[in-house]
Amino acid sequence: MLIKNGLIFINNKAVPKDILIENEKIIKIQDNISVDSNKNHKIIDAKGKYILPGIIDPHTHMRDPGLTYKEDFSTGSMACAKGGITTFLDMPNTIPNTITEEELLKKKQHSKNRSFVDYAFYFGGSKLDNSEEVKKVIDLSVATKIFMNVSTGNMLVEDEKILKNIFNNSKLVAVHAEGEMVKKAIEISAETKTPLYLCHLSTKKEIEYLKEAKNNNLKVYGEVTPHHLFLNESNLKDNPLLIMKPELKTKEDNEALWEAINEGIIDTIGTDHAPHTFEEKSNNSIYGIPGVENSLELMLQAVKEKKITIEKLIQLMSENPSKIFGLKSKGNLKVGYDADIILVDLNIDEKISDKNIISKCNWTPYKSFNKGGKVMMTIVRGNIVFNNGKFNNLKIGKEVV
Ligand code: DOR
Ligand code: ZN
Ligand code: ZN
Repeated sequence: MLIKNGLIFINNKAVPKDILIENEKIIKIQDNISVDSNKNHKIIDAKGKYILPGIIDPHTHMRDPGLTYKEDFSTGSMACAKGGITTFLDMPNTIPNTITEEELLKKKQHSKNRSFVDYAFYFGGSKLDNSEEVKKVIDLSVATKIFMNVSTGNMLVEDEKILKNIFNNSKLVAVHAEGEMVKKAIEISAETKTPLYLCHLSTKKEIEYLKEAKNNNLKVYGEVTPHHLFLNESNLKDNPLLIMKPELKTKEDNEALWEAINEGIIDTIGTDHAPHTFEEKSNNSIYGIPGVENSLELMLQAVKEKKITIEKLIQLMSENPSKIFGLKSKGNLKVGYDADIILVDLNIDEKISDKNIISKCNWTPYKSFNKGGKVMMTIVRGNIVFNNGKFNNLKIGKEVV
């Protein structure tokens, strides 16, 4: 495949380059690569389009197995492809919970030939202390996920000794921790010398904990979600659709998160894609909102509004997730890397609509929000899975850990 005439970003500047792909990898990025008629490359004309590395979403709940009326591996991965996400990491609060080696292996088997994009799994820490299982799957999962506060599913781990056992047997721990629990997670990470990934930081105070940990040279990473950047409690008023954990906070917290992004304290954007049906959301206080279809569109709007640079966006949404979770040869437009590439139109004047939603949950929290750009094509290891609003029925997604 040869992608011609697209614009890539180098130091925040858009420059025209051609990209040559062979055997799923980027093999050349240069001006005017000539067409080698012997090689029969598929030519893609990307004139007027911007080329970004595929987005890596480090935080999704694809609901498969057990809750597939909300989402399943195929629909969730299609929603990713539409949103420019070429790799997603899937959380363990499925049913059954992914807290034994056996369940993880079943999940891996079940996911084969179902996904349109690449993926990897978290393993879950259990309140019954599954640290022996945690140890067994250390190379079969990206990280251990521990719920240190109440959320969807029944996976809360409170006992400090058990927390420490799980940390001690993990290579990386991702936590759902809020407020004081963020501090506690950082303490346990320091004591057990296990790197820590703080999911969905949502307050100024939590940012301070992260900043302090980084100042102390601890291996602690911080994620923020689009919803904690773009929404706050003023949007929540009487709208049960916007109930999630952590809850939406204040406008000042939104601002503290943007500031932390620009100060270099935040490492990633993760959607916390947590689909529930419209009926479930309307009738109950059930936590979570979908995210993968709109995260890039929203962040590109932030680029337009100069809240963040495009370079920073690429760092947070592609490069850093790849580094933190050890996804080799992903997250960069570089020779030798997987050809996970998206073509984006940045010259659009469109709003997010609640029509044609791909996620099974079939609603969006961002109706009428401006789109800063639109994904025109999604390429996973050299395979076009999404093109101009349509999917190629190519379930070529592979597990990457
Ligand atoms: O709002 C949330 N929903 N927060 C979580 O931590 C879990 C998620 C879910 O799985 O629904
Ligand atoms: Zn969470
Ligand atoms: Zn989550």
